[in-house]
Amino acid sequence: MQKIGTLVLLGLLAAEPLLAQDAAEGETVFQRRCSACHTIDGANRVGPSLQGVVGRDAGTFDGFRYSGAMEESGLMWDAETLMKYLENPRDMVPGTRMVLRLPDEEDRRNVVEFLATR
Ligand code: HEC
Repeated sequence: MQKIGTLVLLGLLAAEPLLAQDAAEGETVFQRRCSACHTIDGANRVGPSLQGVVGRDAGTFDGFRYSGAMEESGLMWDAETLMKYLENPRDMVPGTRMVLRLPDEEDRRNVVEFLATR
């Protein structure tokens, strides 16, 4: 199963060199703008770990105490919902405890590409 996943991923990277490039740039954005509060290795800090966040239901990472607003948002994190949330978290989830905004669309797209690889 993992082997198939790796092959599919390699296929995608070969077909889409731009995607790999975006993910690399997204890692830089993550380090600069997100890593003060978030990890991608499963550990919760000020914010929940973002390991595997793409495809997961909002407010459900094990062991993190979310705001009621996030728990009840009913959102599922995919590229579209993440792009919108990161632009202005409080617009999308009024009452969320995350205040950081990422106004630059390219930064948002790159960081979402990066998160999709984790
Ligand atoms: C100053 C701290 C801080 C920074 C910086 C920050 N966040 Fe957050 N983030 C939080 C907190 C706190 C929450 C939990 C929000 C809640 O419960 O309402 C959160 C929640 C999230 C969630 C929802 C996760 C889930 O499990 O539902 C995502 C996605 C997210 N942040 C992405 C990012 C990204 C990407 C960046 C960088 C561009 C970032 N955050 C920067 C504090 C931060």
